[in-house]
Amino acid sequence: MNATPSVTAPILKVDHLSMKFGGLVAIGDLSFEAKRGEITALIGPNGAGKTTVFNCITGFYKPSEGMIMLTGRDGGQFLLERMADYQITARAKVARTFQNIRLFSGMTLLENLLVAQHNTLMTASGFTVLGLLGIGKYRNASREATDLARYWLDKANLIDRADDPAGDLPYGAQRRLEIARAMCTKPELLCLDEPAAGLNPRESQALNDLLNDIKDNTGTSILLIEHDMSVVMQISDHIVVLEYGQKISDGTPEQVRQDPRVIAAYLGVEDEEIEEVLVEVGDEHVIQQLDVEPDPAHGPGASSSYLAGSVADTIGHSDREGEFVKVSPGASRAARAGRESEAKKAPSAASKKTKSRSGSPKPGGKK
Ligand SMILES: Nc1ncnc2c1ncn2[C@@H]1O[C@H](COP(=O)(O)OP(=O)(O)OP(=O)(O)O)[C@@H](O)[C@H]1O
Ligand SMILES: [Mg+2]
Repeated sequence: MNATPSVTAPILKVDHLSMKFGGLVAIGDLSFEAKRGEITALIGPNGAGKTTVFNCITGFYKPSEGMIMLTGRDGGQFLLERMADYQITARAKVARTFQNIRLFSGMTLLENLLVAQHNTLMTASGFTVLGLLGIGKYRNASREATDLARYWLDKANLIDRADDPAGDLPYGAQRRLEIARAMCTKPELLCLDEPAAGLNPRESQALNDLLNDIKDNTGTSILLIEHDMSVVMQISDHIVVLEYGQKISDGTPEQVRQDPRVIAAYLGVEDEEIEEVLVEVGDEHVIQQLDVEPDPAHGPGASSSYLAGSVADTIGHSDREGEFVKVSPGASRAARAGRESEAKKAPSAASKKTKSRSGSPKPGGKK
């Protein structure tokens, strides 16, 4: 670990990151930065590689190539791709939540948040029975852990249910509890994988409030994977858009929502149809930017990613580890839809819009 005191440096620098599973390039030469104290969103269609990026950052996967540098508040730097997952949590102070909720459903809310502080408590106990019985530093540490847990339960608007089993909470509240649990580790970087998935509008608003509170009052930076544009566009400072494991856009919410490549990816249309669609939806500002040729380096020729769904749907698996073997030609929904549309030509842009993956609105559609 270097200790270059440079706290103006981005908290996270992902540099030429690649992750391959057999023949499948889940992430291809991806570079981006997340600034300290900001909310950076990572968005893109299903199978774009977002969770794989998180898995590389948090040490679940060892990247095939590239560098992931985290710079702490004190200027300490960590090359995450060289560290084990438990070191990334304990030393680099990266916390995460998962795409599928992972709580101890039989434990109370308070207990879930105390378990997250297990490392601190065990260190305070001196790993001795006397320590656990309350002699020495353990008693203070235990009180502090409970105070911290109650603080985050309050912030997450869950303090009234502190003694209820976590499994009894409604879905949106479970999502907030996961975030509260991650915050109990006092992270420098909080990585959230689709925290708004399955939330109703009121729960999404409560999530936005919690994330803004974390951003404004803790100094923790947030990396957010999210499909819900009402969350992404409202709270992100910076958005990175992935498609087929590659970056197709990077900028402010305003810049990204007007980027023709992002619109194309989200609408799920052929490249040559983009202009026609945008004329029909009346977005002249975007049309003016469409004088650039599509870049063949970004995914297959047809940018119908939202038709394709998860690439996992189209690959063969040879063993229980799920190692990639081959892509079945024409197995994807995109290919099928292409064949069908040959048979019956889509009559209007409106019908093309319905080709986009359900639950994945056009960026900026809601604010
Ligand atoms: N362990 C693995 N073995 C083989 N392929 C994998 C593995 N993990 C991810 N992949 C593949 O990498 C690609 C990217 O997957 P990833 O889960 O990162 O996408 P995502 O952007 O998070 O998608 P979603 O929005 O659906 O969650 C997919 O094709 C997926 O099947
Ligand atoms: Mg994912």
